[in-house]
Amino acid sequence: MQAAVRDRYGPPEVVEVQEVDRPAPSSNQVLVRVRAASVNRADIDGLYPRWAFVRLFLGLRAPKNRGLGLDVAGVVDAVGEGVTRFVPGDRVFGDLSTSRDGAFAEFVCAPEKVLASIPTGVSFEDAATLPHSAILALQGLRRRDGRTIQPGDTVLIVGASGNVGPFAVQLAKVMGGEVTGVCRTQKMDFVRSLGADHVIDYTTQDETRTGERYDWILDVDAHRSVFRWRGALRPNGAYVTLGGSALTMLVTGLLGPVVSRFGDHSLGMMLWWKPNSAADVATLLELIASGKLRPVIDRTYPLSEIVAALRHVDDGQARGKVVITV
Ligand SMILES: NC(=O)c1ccc[n+]([C@@H]2O[C@H](COP(=O)([O-])OP(=O)(O)OC[C@H]3O[C@@H](n4cnc5c(N)ncnc54)[C@H](OP(=O)(O)O)[C@@H]3O)[C@@H](O)[C@H]2O)c1
Repeated sequence: MQAAVRDRYGPPEVVEVQEVDRPAPSSNQVLVRVRAASVNRADIDGLYPRWAFVRLFLGLRAPKNRGLGLDVAGVVDAVGEGVTRFVPGDRVFGDLSTSRDGAFAEFVCAPEKVLASIPTGVSFEDAATLPHSAILALQGLRRRDGRTIQPGDTVLIVGASGNVGPFAVQLAKVMGGEVTGVCRTQKMDFVRSLGADHVIDYTTQDETRTGERYDWILDVDAHRSVFRWRGALRPNGAYVTLGGSALTMLVTGLLGPVVSRFGDHSLGMMLWWKPNSAADVATLLELIASGKLRPVIDRTYPLSEIVAALRHVDDGQARGKVVITV
């Protein structure tokens, strides 16, 4: 089968589409014939990790896994003898973050537990946008104790224009928030089209110093210190970041909880991510079925053009999701 692989760390250009052996499912695995996959920031971070320590897990000198791609949507081709929920022919999707194989391939093996059924009426392309980014958006807008946006809350989505942001903007609107999105100049109309009430251009304005205060701030890929965000929160406000540079993560992870002790707000990283949470997948599918949430696909590339797809995302050009069709 054809699969995107790489044997060293580096930019998208290190990736090649090669003929490799088709995987065989083990007892609890499902062999999926991939129909669509989508690109995430985590794929780029897997190509050349921003955090050096991550190489302890991915491979010190070269990546242990040659494959790439987290989000998969396709058709069940075969199942291991221990699989009970799926049979060949079923349409499935899921986030492969916790498994070894890559979705940018004609076939991929995935543990049964990471897959869910694609409802009738949802395309493979739309399904492939959801598992990683939409789940992160939903969980990033909820605290671990379950507290979430209330109608009328002011919500700032920093990084509203990439993978997670467009889902976050729409979800915050569904929850009744007054939503401000932050993005670069060229993507302001795109963020407005998602339903954002206000848009801030981070290239011309410091989004932490606008004078506005927010009940919720979701910073999908932090570029600023947690200290700068403190003054942008209303009383009882929450600032949550999903990721970012090594420095911002270190400072937020270590000092967020300390800063939170000396005020009436909370600031920190989301450390309780539950990929493929069945309840959250069900919520997303309900919202899509009712027309309240729509996956936003910027471009679709065939597997043979995987390098161009990764380059488009890595260059910060994507408005929403980039989908690979197989
Ligand atoms: N916490 C967890 O458990 C967990 C698990 C998995 C992944 N993650 C993290 O989740 C995040 C996912 O991000 P993503 O896929 O949505 O990233 P993305 O698609 O690359 O989007 C990045 C966003 O940041 C914006 N941005 C770029 N430079 C900026 C600046 N200087 N100031 C403000 N905004 C700026 C971009 O805006 P423009 O495009 O308009 O420039 C874009 O909207 C990653 O950080 C990943 O590491 C976390």
